[in-house]
Amino acid sequence: MMMSAMTILVLNGPNLSRLGKREPAVYGHQTLDDINRELAKSFPEISFEFFKTEYEGKLLEKLFESDDQGGYQGVVLNAGALTHYSIALRDAISAVTIPVVEVHLSNIYAREEFRHRSVISGVCVGVISGFGANSYHLGVRALLAPGLPEPD
Ligand code: DQA
Repeated sequence: MMMSAMTILVLNGPNLSRLGKREPAVYGHQTLDDINRELAKSFPEISFEFFKTEYEGKLLEKLFESDDQGGYQGVVLNAGALTHYSIALRDAISAVTIPVVEVHLSNIYAREEFRHRSVISGVCVGVISGFGANSYHLGVRALLAPGLPEPD
């Protein structure tokens, strides 16, 4: 499939499909569909692909498929709790050449201690955490900014 150079993949991992119902005091009232819709509306020049899964392996597969397919500007990834322990996800991000921005709705550093550690940050181009749905918007902006540093 031919894609425009401006396709951004928005990847969401475990429990993010529950947004809107899930702990609204922490994650807000918007559903993931609401967030994705607003994102597409805010960046009409960008073609988005949205993918969500509860499964670690499916996140990995999606990253590899996207890397093989090519044509992606980058990935905005909210890996949910996998952020804190999935070395497999970290290795997958390392294995692909597409830049990945780590995003979180909540400020993981202002929450429980087990959330303070992200095992994926070191292989992402950067991290945006704590701005609610706006974290995804900022993630897209980061990918569009010129001179994006290459991860190791
Ligand atoms: C989250 C933060 C994680 O700690 C948590 O496990 C999530 C959501 C966020 O968007 O704030 O599922 O990634």
